[in-house]
Amino acid sequence: MTSPHRLGSSSPTSHLSISTASASSPPCSPTWSSGPSSFSPSSSSSSSSPSSTGSSYFHRRRDHLSGAASWGGREWERRLRKSATPKSLSGHTVLVTGAAGFVGFHVSRTLRQRGDRVVGLDNFNDYYDPGLKRDRQNILSRSGVFVMEGDINDQALLKKLFDVVPFTHVMHLAAQAGVRYAMQNPYSYVHNNIAGFTKLLEACKSANPQPAIIWASSSSVYGLNSKVPFSEKDRTDRPASLYAATKKAAEEIARAYNHIYGLSITGLRFITVYGPYGRPDMAYFFFTKDILNGNQITIYEGPDHSSVARDFTYIDDIVEGCLGVLDTSKKSTGSGGKKTVSAQLRTFNLGNTSPVPVTKLVRILEKLLKVKANKKVLPLPMNGDVKFTHANIKA
Ligand SMILES: NC(=O)c1ccc[n+]([C@@H]2O[C@H](COP(=O)([O-])OP(=O)(O)OC[C@H]3O[C@@H](n4cnc5c(N)ncnc54)[C@H](O)[C@@H]3O)[C@@H](O)[C@H]2O)c1
Repeated sequence: MTSPHRLGSSSPTSHLSISTASASSPPCSPTWSSGPSSFSPSSSSSSSSPSSTGSSYFHRRRDHLSGAASWGGREWERRLRKSATPKSLSGHTVLVTGAAGFVGFHVSRTLRQRGDRVVGLDNFNDYYDPGLKRDRQNILSRSGVFVMEGDINDQALLKKLFDVVPFTHVMHLAAQAGVRYAMQNPYSYVHNNIAGFTKLLEACKSANPQPAIIWASSSSVYGLNSKVPFSEKDRTDRPASLYAATKKAAEEIARAYNHIYGLSITGLRFITVYGPYGRPDMAYFFFTKDILNGNQITIYEGPDHSSVARDFTYIDDIVEGCLGVLDTSKKSTGSGGKKTVSAQLRTFNLGNTSPVPVTKLVRILEKLLKVKANKKVLPLPMNGDVKFTHANIKA
């Protein structure tokens, strides 16, 4: 895939962040947004919007609301087996959760292209336009990856999946992403990022063989830390958002499952990922839309008019990091719900280590779009966003 305009570092992969971690520690919001004209979840739907469902913390999905399972049956199992069938005896057999999402799509496609066997799982919720997720699903389908519709909270589905396919790895990328939306729908974060993650770990621990797990945490765990660049050894006990708090909680849950059940687990703290088929809730996306539509964009600034900056990381670099981590994962050591010996536990930052001020991002967009943005500058609100993200990627 080509990258027409990378932000920050000039060399695409040279700044790939991989550094070792203490398993216990946590920055910032991966997105900042413009003002009223900015992204609003579920823009594709009306009453089905999660923000309008009030008490419901589920995103709308056909099967979920009707209670009918959208998986199972002979044809479903045939497609599952086919997607997991070896092209060669080498390579991995990987379950990718969130495969219709931005990162999951790219990771699945690259895994398949290099010859691994990939099965995708996604609930196609409408946090943002599910049409984009269907497009990604269709592209994956054409390259031989079956992305089934299902939820990580569906324990029967997970059991069935592990019964049918001996996955060597789980690449867990399904989550409720985004920082600001947590103020509208907090339960979605707890439901997907904590409860859903725990259900997935339960299924992995009971599977035979147990898979190795690679999963997406977030640089948001570094929260209110002011020390930069963020190191995996830094403290992570001061989240600035509920999103961050759920990622931090998931890191500790992962540690417990590693300790008790011998699951091999690697957590990846992604930092502000961008690229083709990206998420519409991220600033580069809706700034572009608003600039083209002549709408005003809001740029936030820190104290004393300081710049808000993000360590933008190009999707190809994230994919490379995910695959590198997958290839270096050791096997889980448990069996029958008990561990035999200690299993691998790792945490890595995956970032660019080259933060770009938001003002520069807007200048780049103006240049490429050949349109002057109508800008409003406001102080950074207390909504979970942090002033900067910057990864230490030394290890
Ligand atoms: N993109 C970034 O900048 C960034 C930064 C830090 C961390 N992350 C993390 O990386 C991971 C991938 O992020 P992304 O940008 O691809 O987000 P995304 O929203 O595009 O992808 C997540 C996918 O998971 C699916 N999903 C959500 N809950 C599910 C559930 N219960 N069962 C099955 N599927 C479910 C969604 O439908 C979506 O397609 C997430 O864990 C996110 O928190 C992303």
